[in-house]
Amino acid sequence: MSAAREHWGSRFGFIMAAAGSAVGIGNIWRFPYTTGNNGGGAFLLIYLAMVLGFGIALATAEMLVGRSAQRNPVGAFRILGGKGWPLVGYAGALTGFVILSFYIIVAGWTLAYIWLMASGQLHTTDPEQLNQVFGSFVADPVRPIAYSALFMGLTAWIVAGGIAHGIERWNKVLMPSLFIILLVLVARSLTLPGGMAGVEFYLKPDFSKVTAHTFYDAIAQVFFSLSIGMGTLLTYGSYLSKNEHLPKAALTVAMIDTGVAVLAGLMIMPAVFAFGFNPSAGPGLTFVTLPAVFASMPGGDLFGVLFFSLLAIAALTSAISILEPMVSYFVDEHAASRHKTVIIASLVCFALGIPASLSFGLTAGFTIAGKNWFDLMDFLANNIMLPLGGLLTAIFVGWVWKDAVKELRNQGALSLRWAPLWLLVLRFLAPLGILWIMLSALFG
Ligand code: PFF
Repeated sequence: MSAAREHWGSRFGFIMAAAGSAVGIGNIWRFPYTTGNNGGGAFLLIYLAMVLGFGIALATAEMLVGRSAQRNPVGAFRILGGKGWPLVGYAGALTGFVILSFYIIVAGWTLAYIWLMASGQLHTTDPEQLNQVFGSFVADPVRPIAYSALFMGLTAWIVAGGIAHGIERWNKVLMPSLFIILLVLVARSLTLPGGMAGVEFYLKPDFSKVTAHTFYDAIAQVFFSLSIGMGTLLTYGSYLSKNEHLPKAALTVAMIDTGVAVLAGLMIMPAVFAFGFNPSAGPGLTFVTLPAVFASMPGGDLFGVLFFSLLAIAALTSAISILEPMVSYFVDEHAASRHKTVIIASLVCFALGIPASLSFGLTAGFTIAGKNWFDLMDFLANNIMLPLGGLLTAIFVGWVWKDAVKELRNQGALSLRWAPLWLLVLRFLAPLGILWIMLSALFG
């Protein structure tokens, strides 16, 4: 164990950082439209069951591995598991590169939209016209890439500051700001005349829309949203000291994450219905439908700027957490300098983002298995790599690492009545459930 390893300055700082990782584009952009397309409340119920059923258990397991080993994912699996297991850490780092390559593109769009909103360039209630603005912006070979560079630069700058003075300090400011903006926007949306129809659409269960794919979408969303399966929580856990109560931390983070996702829908759907727009616009809901909603609303420009700032903040605190595991790997295992590693890893992620951005324009015709580069990276990361990473972590903590429960007990200080249940989930429920859902969706 390295004696000089940095630690979080406070419990609050750690919780904000972990919640900052979880709350991201996944909650505000993806969750509302996925829920809308998958039977509303029916999807929500399935999602909640999965978060409670294995999400929290897996999040606890990941943080525990990090806390015990006080290392990055590769080093942690090597110390606790020995031969072969570091591969899970390497796979996590690869997943991080894949996710960041498309994450910074959408995050760049949100930065651009703050400016477009503020400068009044989106001031029309015609979704057709907004569709064109969005379409020509994302297809541009330069502007979205420039914005993603700006976003990557911000992320790198914060991560370069280290744990307590970079990641923690910024999360402690950004996360409370995010909650305030979110509550203001939810209050505005719910008080619009006609908004209740949106609440009904969003929350009323429609089980006729539930298929094997609904479960697959839900599982992918659980992993992506809770940041499980690629070593992020493991790395954040490695900066904790042994007296942190991990199951409580995992539960708190999952509650914040799910709460924000549900509130994001309650912010978006009532407003969409109040002005008679189409709630099933899919991914375009945020960048096409919402600007039309804002243009219809008194003071809408201000609400629009707030909304896209909210999205940018959520994206930033998540991107930080995707970059940190790779950085900690090079710092721990190769004694590299944090600054140099951050710069190099960020440049690589930025370069990988370029083809993702171009797949909306120049290379739109180039598809593999019917998916452009962006969609392919998104699918690979969310539907395959994260669930597999989670599955292997569950197997590792459940079956291979013999000291897991002892470590969870904080060396005897905590009595955990439900530790056997936790093990049961990690040994059977999580691995079999994940495998079954993945196989039935991919081959069913
Ligand atoms: N949880 C983030 C979101 O919902 O947008 C995305 C994410 C962050 C995924 C960190 C994976 C990760 F390790």
